[in-house]
Amino acid sequence: MNIAIIYYSQSGNADFVANELAKQLEADIVRIEPEKAYPDKGFKKFFWGGKSAVMGETPKLVPYEFDAQKYDVVILGYPVWAGTFAPPIRTFAEQNRVALAEKTVLAFATSSGGNAEKSFVKLASLLKKDKIFPTLSIVDPLVKPSDDKLAQIEAFCEQIKELELNA
Ligand SMILES: Cc1cc2nc3c(=O)[nH]c(=O)nc-3n(C[C@H](O)[C@H](O)[C@H](O)COP(=O)(O)O)c2cc1C
Repeated sequence: MNIAIIYYSQSGNADFVANELAKQLEADIVRIEPEKAYPDKGFKKFFWGGKSAVMGETPKLVPYEFDAQKYDVVILGYPVWAGTFAPPIRTFAEQNRVALAEKTVLAFATSSGGNAEKSFVKLASLLKKDKIFPTLSIVDPLVKPSDDKLAQIEAFCEQIKELELNA
């Protein structure tokens, strides 16, 4: 099974997870970026990013390469912003809505609080999927690393490999 990991990361935590997953799953990896970067410091960082997420904005993305035909499974990864997926993921999901409808779509989220469940439900609803499973919710693995978090990533990979066996 061919797997693509499409992710956004502002400050490296989602990037860390995406790269670990890519290694363990031998997946292709695409980092998406908004054309206009969100502020990454101080009050502005939480205000503008949070507002953009709450408003459901779809920021324009730097051109990326993603040939959906090559993949059976697409893993979307992002930081949780204001309880939902970060806005570049909304842009990607909307730009690839038709292609993603035919794929198994999975997701991982990094957050500071550890509660990403709502973001997975919202993503499923945007993609018109019943449910996204399996998912991985992980607390700031780059800035607060631990063996438990590496174990979480490994367990997620095992779940994905099970999918492959059952396919
Ligand atoms: C604009 C903004 C909003 C955030 N909102 C939440 C939130 O609602 N819940 C939470 O647990 N963490 C929240 N965070 C923290 C990030 O989700 C967390 O630090 C994440 O791991 C960052 O990933 P990154 O380093 O890949 O950008 C927020 C961070 C930003 C910048």
